[in-house]
Amino acid sequence: MDQVRLGVIGYGNMGRSHVKYFDQVKGLKFTAVADPDPKETELLVKEHGVKAFTDGYELINSGEVDAVLIATPHYDHPPLTLAAFEKGLHVLCEKPIAVTAKAAQETIEAHKKHPELIYCGMFNQRTSPTWRAVKRLIDEGAVGELIRVGWTIQGWFRTQAYYDSGGWRATWKGEGGGVLINQCPHNLDLFCWFVGQPKRVTAAQVGLGKYHHIEVEDEVNALLEFENGATGTFVTSTAECSGINRLEIVGDNGTIIAEPGKPVRLLRNGTPTREFLATSPERFATPSRDTISIEPGEKDPGHRGITENFINAILHGEKLIAPAAEGILGLELGNAMLMSGLKHQPVDLPTDRNAFEGVLQDLIKNSTFKKREVKNTGAADLAGTY
Ligand SMILES: NC(=O)c1ccc[n+]([C@@H]2O[C@H](COP(=O)([O-])OP(=O)(O)OC[C@H]3O[C@@H](n4cnc5c(N)ncnc54)[C@H](O)[C@@H]3O)[C@@H](O)[C@H]2O)c1
Repeated sequence: MDQVRLGVIGYGNMGRSHVKYFDQVKGLKFTAVADPDPKETELLVKEHGVKAFTDGYELINSGEVDAVLIATPHYDHPPLTLAAFEKGLHVLCEKPIAVTAKAAQETIEAHKKHPELIYCGMFNQRTSPTWRAVKRLIDEGAVGELIRVGWTIQGWFRTQAYYDSGGWRATWKGEGGGVLINQCPHNLDLFCWFVGQPKRVTAAQVGLGKYHHIEVEDEVNALLEFENGATGTFVTSTAECSGINRLEIVGDNGTIIAEPGKPVRLLRNGTPTREFLATSPERFATPSRDTISIEPGEKDPGHRGITENFINAILHGEKLIAPAAEGILGLELGNAMLMSGLKHQPVDLPTDRNAFEGVLQDLIKNSTFKKREVKNTGAADLAGTY
């Protein structure tokens, strides 16, 4: 095979954004699209000569594709993924790979039965030069044993108009959550990519519809604890417009401070912190320290980078940047934060996946929320929002 016939399932905001760069991806042949509204895909049929379907499962069963890119609302990701594997198709799934860790696990188990297929998650922030620099430093041992990690993420500001733009958005039934399941899957994935999954969410505060007319969370403050005693904080909101996005990873050997758009700073300790504090005879001394500033520089290939990597993995066995199976770690961490915040109690990881399913089903069953009239303002330009 020298070309991968790719079908896009879900031609909304994100499906459209993906299609725009397809002609730049070597080895990708765009052959099919599925969306319930044929008017939306009419132009694609004319311009790209693709086959259009009104349902993702029709596309999967059509024989027109070798691989699918799933860009529907989240709850549909696992059943479409399972159907694609059954049909012997490679899967590139938008984030999150599922709404619950339980559903994600089912896709991972199904994939194990088809190891010849590629299963990739659209965790496009893994290609960001800033986050790649952080990952490289950690892998090189620049931080050493983790002491503390803190991430304040206020770059996900969303208006009420955004939440009103789709019937499924920001409802328990249609989306399964708010900022943790829609915007933060990127950060939760990176968080686990950098420092692993904590063992416990010791406490989380989640604000349900605190700043917007929605029923799901638009603010989260979570305290975390790691196996070695290291601590963490994860703070986010869709109602703060500062754009602050600051990650601090503190370890025995050094500290990383990263903010997209700025150089990544590594504060290196001359002597590991713990050794110094235990052995220094001085009362107010600190370890010697130097600062390295890393200019990320390179351009971020973003979504195209992940799609290229997916195609190259199929055609040439290239190593995946974002194997979908890794997506369960951040997803489960988000599930745990939500459960901790709602129940006002600590939640251990790995979580009791049935317990979270129960919590979510209760939220759906007991929902009395009335969504405002959905305003269909057409597809939005997502550039700069992810
Ligand atoms: N990676 C990123 O940076 C990023 C950014 C935005 C959205 N997303 C993800 O993309 C997904 C879609 O988000 P969106 O903003 O594009 O939503 P959207 O509502 O704009 O688009 C979803 C589309 O899927 C269609 N659809 C629903 N069920 C379908 C089915 N069974 N078969 C075919 N089409 C179906 C809908 O009609 C709609 O056109 C979400 O999971 C979201 O988290 C990812």
